[in-house]
Amino acid sequence: MTVTLAFDVYGTLIDTHGVVTALQALVGEKAQDFSQTWRDKQLEYSFRRGLMQNYVNFATCTSQALDYTCAYYQVDFSEKQRASLLGIYKVLPAFKDVKETLLQLKATDFRLFAFSNGSSDALEELLTAAGIRDCFLGVISVDDLKSFKPNPGVYSYFLRKSETTGNCAWLISSNPFDVIGAISAGMKSAWVQRSPTAIFDPWEIKPTLIVKSLTKLSEKITAWEAVT
Ligand code: 2OP
Repeated sequence: MTVTLAFDVYGTLIDTHGVVTALQALVGEKAQDFSQTWRDKQLEYSFRRGLMQNYVNFATCTSQALDYTCAYYQVDFSEKQRASLLGIYKVLPAFKDVKETLLQLKATDFRLFAFSNGSSDALEELLTAAGIRDCFLGVISVDDLKSFKPNPGVYSYFLRKSETTGNCAWLISSNPFDVIGAISAGMKSAWVQRSPTAIFDPWEIKPTLIVKSLTKLSEKITAWEAVT
């Protein structure tokens, strides 16, 4: 059986806190908290837009979340500063373990896809800037469906577009809501626990596998597939 891997992008391959250095120049020691609030709000907006069926693309969620975060921390960025931060968001860096692992996986039988809330154009730019675009057979965006993760429809769409089925496909994600969404929609999923303090939601749905980084992913999925 050929196994398909769907890599979540923001937070899993790409470090959404890659804006912290630029934020330090603007908000000083609040930079880390600012970045976290921005990311949390961006995801909340995507969830709410999905539920309301009032879609705007992920870049709009990001931009509106930035405005919320500025209001929350009572800071006022100039248009230029705001545009510069949103520009950095388009070319955020990959985590350190990403490129080498993807290159190794590409040389195996696994079929690799990027699968994200970001629009196709945004993903192409982001993954190309991080030097990892060519590791994937394809880039699949929820934007085609005008909805967001964890709508079960977006995981079915991924399976259709990548020409596979849930029992042959794994979502690889550091975002617990994404892991839970994929398993609930019939896929297998590895949770990448990027920080020892990251908490997996204590629901009745558990990750198929947990890895601390992408380095051991191939080994762990191969072993899992061999015994089941
Ligand atoms: C992504 O879809 C959920 O942000 C995450 O890339």
